[in-house]
Amino acid sequence: MAIPITASFITSNTDFTKCPPARMPEFAFIGRSNVGKSSLINSITFHKGLAKTSQTPGKTQLINHFIINEKWYLVDLPGYGYAKVSKEKRREFEKMIFDYLLHRENLTCLFVLIDIRLKPQAVDIEFMNRMVQEQVPFHIAFTKADKLSQKQVHDSVELYKNFLLENWEGLPEIFITSAEKHVGREDILKNIEELIKTSPYKIGK
Ligand code: GTP
Ligand code: MG
Repeated sequence: MAIPITASFITSNTDFTKCPPARMPEFAFIGRSNVGKSSLINSITFHKGLAKTSQTPGKTQLINHFIINEKWYLVDLPGYGYAKVSKEKRREFEKMIFDYLLHRENLTCLFVLIDIRLKPQAVDIEFMNRMVQEQVPFHIAFTKADKLSQKQVHDSVELYKNFLLENWEGLPEIFITSAEKHVGREDILKNIEELIKTSPYKIGK
């Protein structure tokens, strides 16, 4: 049965210091533009239109906070590696994203979204290596699983894992998702609930 949750939008910011007070555990979705971050937020919350989605990359341009169950924050971030903006704009976005990722104290875990149809891409690998270096905890969530057969999904994930293991000693937790079919929703919510239990930011501890 689907886990029921409540969700509402709180704020959009360009500056992490203006985000809601860091009193609750926070989880954020990051990944390349168009990978499906905003769609996965809508799928998890069963709330079409809560996060703005688009067929064209570069839709989400702010740090968007949603509150879930009055207990934790879910954050929709702009995508990285979006080529069709000026160098200056891209630098601005990157600064906004990295300032948030590296300084948001209640950020409990990041979900790095990867399009399951693609072979490992340098921009994602570089991003995850940076997160390892900076000790920002993250999971991987593969998106758009509905676009492949079960066998293709399996092969694609295996290929990705093997690629990562060429350079890493272990693997992050891996989720397979489809925003279209709500696949992965329950696994992600359960994982977040577990992490909240040990978060120093949880309310009513
Ligand atoms: P930016 O905000 O631009 O960085 O993009 P985003 O990562 O938030 O992607 P968004 O959720 O806006 O989705 C991009 C496109 O992919 C949209 O056309 C979605 O309908 C489509 N999409 C997202 N998730 C899925 C999925 O699980 N399955 C399918 N088939 N399409 C998806
Ligand atoms: Mg988006």
